[in-house]
Amino acid sequence: MAFRIAVLASGSGSNFQALIDRFKSHPQIKIALLIASKQPIGAIARATQNGIPVQVLPSAKESPGAYEMMLQKCLTEARIDLVVLAGFLSLIPAVITKNYPKRIINIHPALLPDFGGKGFYGLNVHKAVIAAKRKESGCTVHFVSEEYDKGDIIAQRKVPVLAKDTPEELAKRILAEEHQLLGEVVEQILLPSKP
Ligand code: GRF
Repeated sequence: MAFRIAVLASGSGSNFQALIDRFKSHPQIKIALLIASKQPIGAIARATQNGIPVQVLPSAKESPGAYEMMLQKCLTEARIDLVVLAGFLSLIPAVITKNYPKRIINIHPALLPDFGGKGFYGLNVHKAVIAAKRKESGCTVHFVSEEYDKGDIIAQRKVPVLAKDTPEELAKRILAEEHQLLGEVVEQILLPSKP
């Protein structure tokens, strides 16, 4: 039987698409569910096009109790083995990180622990990296804890920051690496004996 992944997304879902492409015909790993924090978003369209079930959560800010309950219910009912945050902007409640120890991962578009935490999302991250005159940036996949971008780091990929980079150009170069790294880490966690 295949391991079942839930992908959580709040945006366009290009990382989700990379996972769809990678695991489409995989014998041991199946994307069983997309959980969206709102609608409409690009990730939902991608799920629909690929026959992946979708659940939309209540707002984490406006109804935290309902958000937590629904998230837990979705994961339990779909018998999820691994939760993958791919551009998901809400915090995962502590009760859920406790129920899924080392089973929730996130991808972040910088080399954590730098340029992470509240407010470091989207282009803000790349603007900050350029403003700090860093020569290198990249992406990080880490386990999720109850604080933004604080869980143990699993893997990183580096890219150079070029002198004339705009935040958009840097984001694009990093995103290409994210698309590779996230799927690799999913395999590494679920199929650890694979070389
Ligand atoms: C990515 O840069 C990811 O690192 C961050 O959010 C962005 C999501 O992009 N957490 P996409 O929706 O997968 O295109």
